[in-house]
Amino acid sequence: MKIIRTLYDMTQYRVQQRDRGASVGFVPTMGALHEGHMSLVEQAVRENAVTVVSVFVNPIQFNNKEDYEKYPRTEEEDFKKLAAAGVDAVFAPTAEELYPEEGNNCKEYELGEVASVMEGKYRPGHFQGVAKVLDLLFRLIDPRRAYFGEKDFQQIAVVRNLLKSEGLHVEIVACPIKRASDGLALSSRNTRLTKEQRDVAPEIYQTLKYSVEYSKDHSVQATHDTVVEHLDAIPGMKVEYFEIVDARTLQPIDEWDESNWIVGCITVYCGDVRLIDNIAYRLPNKVDHAD
Ligand code: PAF
Repeated sequence: MKIIRTLYDMTQYRVQQRDRGASVGFVPTMGALHEGHMSLVEQAVRENAVTVVSVFVNPIQFNNKEDYEKYPRTEEEDFKKLAAAGVDAVFAPTAEELYPEEGNNCKEYELGEVASVMEGKYRPGHFQGVAKVLDLLFRLIDPRRAYFGEKDFQQIAVVRNLLKSEGLHVEIVACPIKRASDGLALSSRNTRLTKEQRDVAPEIYQTLKYSVEYSKDHSVQATHDTVVEHLDAIPGMKVEYFEIVDARTLQPIDEWDESNWIVGCITVYCGDVRLIDNIAYRLPNKVDHAD
């Protein structure tokens, strides 16, 4: 597996792959790789001639300096896992390499209304930071397909809008959430949970799962309230937001018959660790992102 640190070397590598006609699958990550990431990587390796993974903790998508500093960094182990999975190249630049002109480039991306709710509301600037790094990486790596986990449900919608507004042609492959055996969605942030927090964190998914049953004979508002009340009653847990939304527009719904694709998206603080998850209340037979 090739480890690439510079823009120049990444460009050279990409040109070589293009010359031999290899289509590239790309998995963007911030490292601290867990089984959730590895399932994306394995799928990319299966579906593409060449797989490139980026490992870069993107400073400009953190709206909280402490969260950025505390974000786990495990580069050596990450590289071992990626090599064992059959990845062809890992791109792991420094922030100085990727953003040489930091501060000068204030381009605002057109991300649409899906970017202004939920994470967009609670983490101002977050999606602009995600958009900027992905715009750079997509142009540099020029993948045919890019793989994203559905845990970051909103991020996938934002990335689709980024591609449209920037005229980039990349097929987005959305992969199901990977969970621990007790239901907790796998996240690099889980390593920061204390034993007590880790013991209660699965309640997030268990509550969401229960709420799907509850929703069958309760209103949207009652379903919302039962989730928030249940989780807020657990010591050390605080719901930042829980929104039941149309999965295409990410705008809140009032009635269950407003859409055939409805998702509940949640962010919960477990102590000072911010965890996100989501669950489907309605799913169309075939998900069509062109809708
Ligand atoms: O989902 C993530 O890990 C990040 O937001 C991404 C897509 C790698 C961009 O930094």
